[in-house]
Amino acid sequence: MSFIVTGATGHLGALIVESLLARGVAPDVIVATGRNSDRLAELSASGVRTEVFDFNNPTPQVFDEADTLILVSSSEVGQRVPQHQAVIEIAQRAHVGRIIYTSAPRANSTPLPLAAEHRATEEILIGSGVPYTILRNGWYNENYEGAFNEARETGTIVGSAGSGKVSSAARRDYAEAAAVVATTEGHLNQTYELGGDTAWTFAELAQTFSALLGTTVDYHNVSAEEQRELLESRGLPDGLIDFLVTMDTNIEQDVLHVEGYALSSLIGRATTPMIETAKTWL
Ligand SMILES: NC(=O)c1ccc[n+]([C@@H]2O[C@H](COP(=O)([O-])OP(=O)(O)OC[C@H]3O[C@@H](n4cnc5c(N)ncnc54)[C@H](OP(=O)(O)O)[C@@H]3O)[C@@H](O)[C@H]2O)c1
Repeated sequence: MSFIVTGATGHLGALIVESLLARGVAPDVIVATGRNSDRLAELSASGVRTEVFDFNNPTPQVFDEADTLILVSSSEVGQRVPQHQAVIEIAQRAHVGRIIYTSAPRANSTPLPLAAEHRATEEILIGSGVPYTILRNGWYNENYEGAFNEARETGTIVGSAGSGKVSSAARRDYAEAAAVVATTEGHLNQTYELGGDTAWTFAELAQTFSALLGTTVDYHNVSAEEQRELLESRGLPDGLIDFLVTMDTNIEQDVLHVEGYALSSLIGRATTPMIETAKTWL
């Protein structure tokens, strides 16, 4: 058994490597890849093999002898389809036994703009004929550190997400799920919708932060237009404003609400509640 992990220099990929090791996988059968050579050097301290690997200029020899590729999606939004396609084709030619891909909630049907590249990647992956497992990861708890800081500074979280729910979980939970899928049987050609056990609204997020901070935190819901004006008044770049407003519109449509307990079933424990992750921001 051997494993290649892309994006191992990033947050999720590094946690996947850690989770593989924690599950008893020998370090010398794990190849951690990424572009950042300093991070690769840090990773090699745990005994894993490391390789520089750039999606834009992939080196096929890295894939020789790999049984399992854990393809953590690239963070270069807009370039991900050709990047992922190149990697999948190399894996196919190298006869990699299976590809585990980290995707987005309901990628095949969601209006979430970010998911379009995941949908296209899933289609390429399934069409490649390489056995696959698709992990449609829900949102990370860690995405809300900015909201926590806003709550701490102002006592308010402002958004236009209404009463839409987010099924977030800690990155570590998703990483463990990837390691479980990589090291156990029964996941071939399966697609899992993964999210936290308890979905929350932004009003509930404010209550969670309030409990932790010991001060009152309110969620102030505004229209998408009002949110846009507020973000413009803070001088945020247009692209980021579009992203944030669209994200809240999607949350209001419940696009990030993942039902079922596939994530906790895979990892064999409850997912990490927001309050546990938020404690690390105090
Ligand atoms: N579910 C969510 O809430 C959520 C939130 C944010 C992102 N995501 C997605 O989930 C993925 C993992 O999340 P994360 O938090 O681990 O992100 P991250 O910490 O930003 O890590 C991104 C990884 O992608 C690698 N990468 C980017 N461009 C690359 C290229 N051209 N060639 C090779 N590697 C490249 C980076 O490598 P180097 O640093 O070595 O360049 C890094 O290892 C992201 O890439 C993104 O697609 C999901």
